[in-house]
Amino acid sequence: MDKILVTGGLGFIGSHTVVELQNEGYEVVIIDDLSNSSENVLQGITAITGKTPIFEKLDLKDKAGVEAFFAKYSDLKGVIHFAASKAVGESVQEPLLYYENNIGTLVYILKELKKLPEASFIFSSSCTVYGQADELPITENAPVKQAESPYGNTKQIGEEIIRDTCKVTPSLKAIALRYFNPVGAHESANIGELPIGVPQNLVPFITQTAIGLREKLSVFGDDYPTPDGTCIRDYIHVVDLAKAHVVALQRLLGNKNKSNYETFNLGTGKGSSVLEVVKAFEKVSGEKLNYQIVGRREGDIISAYADTQKANNELGWKTKLSLDDAMRSAWKWEQKVRG
Ligand code: WQD
Repeated sequence: MDKILVTGGLGFIGSHTVVELQNEGYEVVIIDDLSNSSENVLQGITAITGKTPIFEKLDLKDKAGVEAFFAKYSDLKGVIHFAASKAVGESVQEPLLYYENNIGTLVYILKELKKLPEASFIFSSSCTVYGQADELPITENAPVKQAESPYGNTKQIGEEIIRDTCKVTPSLKAIALRYFNPVGAHESANIGELPIGVPQNLVPFITQTAIGLREKLSVFGDDYPTPDGTCIRDYIHVVDLAKAHVVALQRLLGNKNKSNYETFNLGTGKGSSVLEVVKAFEKVSGEKLNYQIVGRREGDIISAYADTQKANNELGWKTKLSLDDAMRSAWKWEQKVRG
């Protein structure tokens, strides 16, 4: 069976994608530097699929280490590249850390893929490349705007590096997947989101508040031009998102791609406000959430949700799980980890 490399495969989206790859019969090799994850995640994956992926602890900034890895695993059929620093606020404070880690490592991987007779590459990108889009829902043709943060800029630059490399490397096929807001956890509660320190993202902050780890949720502003005044996002269940990666990889492995560099938005196509997410959580958990409306957070956009037609029609993929499913699974995971 085809051997697939998943970088950052012990992370939130990476681990869920490893499960779906194994479910499809692929042999998975994980590279992770454990800077934002734990080796215990391997047990969670194995508990779900009964198969333990090969794990290589490696910092992708180690160029010689990357070369040695690809020399060892010369039979790789594809790479799904998640490994990157992803905290928006931290990237503003530490831009060089983000450019070195997110861009430098991508270049090292692409240099190795260029050496292979054929390579399929899936890149973890983000709807953050659109900034505040002028038109909603957001299609893949929406203009890429000046990034709001160095993190967002590394996604934009990453896409350009891949596009430019594919132009002169016919043997390399690539797809950039632009995620909207990944939430939830595997229904088994064996894997899920493990934010280190104070969560930056909404849903882990909600579940940590409900479990008593945080005193209250701060809702960053209710004076936006939206129905209830709070920001709108497209919250996509991480299992739906993981499945999209397998479908995208199979598109390339099966040479069904229309060009050797493509982009797809991955979302539900539905926008939900912060307060709607809170209410969905309260409904499925039966918990009353302690929250307080506070001032706006710097850099937040008002509203973003995906036009999903390209992914639906060309990838033949669409989301199946709801916001309630995501809240239910996130809560089950939080209770298991902290309960
Ligand atoms: C969602 C909404 C907040 C926390 C970022 C990145 C994106 C991706 C996902 C990495 C906003 C509000 C949040 C809180 C709140 N990251 N909020 N109180 O900012 O849409 O996207 O994370 O891949 O690339 O840009 O996600 O979950 O931080 O915020 O009110 O304690 O929840 O203001 O409206 P965001 P988020």
